[in-house]
Amino acid sequence: MWAITLGATFGVEHLQTVERAVPEPAADQVLIRVRAASLNYRDWEVINGQYHQVFPQGLVPLSDGAGEIVAVGREVTGFQPGDAVMGHFWQGWQAGGFDQALQAQTLGGPLDGMLAEYRVLPARGVMRSPAHLSHAQAACLPCAAVTAWQALVTEGRLCAGQWVLVQGTGGVSLFALQFAKLHGARVLVLSSSDEKLARARQLGADATLNYRTQPAWGAAVQALTGGVHHVVEVGGPGSFAQSFQALHPGGQINVIGYLGGKAGEINPLQVLQTQARVRGIAVGPASSVQAMCQAISASSLQPQIDQVFERDAVADAFAHLAAGRHMGKVVLSL
Ligand SMILES: NC(=O)c1ccc[n+]([C@@H]2O[C@H](COP(=O)([O-])OP(=O)(O)OC[C@H]3O[C@@H](n4cnc5c(N)ncnc54)[C@H](OP(=O)(O)O)[C@@H]3O)[C@@H](O)[C@H]2O)c1
Repeated sequence: MWAITLGATFGVEHLQTVERAVPEPAADQVLIRVRAASLNYRDWEVINGQYHQVFPQGLVPLSDGAGEIVAVGREVTGFQPGDAVMGHFWQGWQAGGFDQALQAQTLGGPLDGMLAEYRVLPARGVMRSPAHLSHAQAACLPCAAVTAWQALVTEGRLCAGQWVLVQGTGGVSLFALQFAKLHGARVLVLSSSDEKLARARQLGADATLNYRTQPAWGAAVQALTGGVHHVVEVGGPGSFAQSFQALHPGGQINVIGYLGGKAGEINPLQVLQTQARVRGIAVGPASSVQAMCQAISASSLQPQIDQVFERDAVADAFAHLAAGRHMGKVVLSL
């Protein structure tokens, strides 16, 4: 089988295509023929050696993938060959609170990821894909969608009528928009592009603002919404102060990404004055994936795919992601 791995030097141009033996599933494992993988910002960092952990040559990158089961171990129940599945980002986090010991069990580093023809995973490390989704659509779910669900629904207990502030129009943010609308919430989308904002309105956004032309957007969000109850904070330190200004008293800020940089300051007084609830989100456990898939199936929700690239265009796909031209998910067909 083929697999694509990190090379001796970091960078997409140094990825290597290698031949490996098709793995045999152990008693509790399933063997998956991977059909699609989606790109996350994290994958870009891993491949370029910029992630907070550095992984060695030979690692198979990409956290998100979906395909069909082709063989199951003798103790596996609940799955059979032909089932469409996707891998869990966290291979060991089933439910409940986060445990640092789980850090070693994420796909796409330190565990091998999904950019390979076949992947063997423990049966508890996969989830049946929602039946109405293609492999390409299912491959969008494990990181981006689960993160949005964990922030707004599992942890945030989102209610109808509340306002959600979504930063940008990438993978996490568009799932957050879709899940918020599914729950009857109102959504304000920020983007650097007026064209993307127009498309966000077509997807259900109730209000939009351009964060490039209006960098001090906090007060404007406050004026438009009366204060947002949930922030999907992917900008990081650069946007954090604005998020506080946009917040409804007692609102929640979900710290998810750092697209605007890693260094900055937090004034604890702002937390006190706004009675904000600020929490870090690290994707989510299998229990969240299950609840999310149930909602996606019940609502026939369609993940927003920006573009599908073929396997031999991995470099083009990452260039597209890095340029920020995309809206929603960038997918590889395998
Ligand atoms: N903690 C977790 O569990 C978790 C899980 C998944 C992702 N993440 C992180 O969340 C972030 C988003 O991930 P993603 O996969 O959704 O990325 P993505 O698909 O690459 O989305 C990036 C988009 O975010 C917007 N953006 C760029 N710089 C921004 C800034 N300074 N402020 C606000 N928005 C900005 C842009 O949208 P416009 O073009 O519309 O401006 C850009 O297209 C990344 O930092 C990623 O590492 C964290």
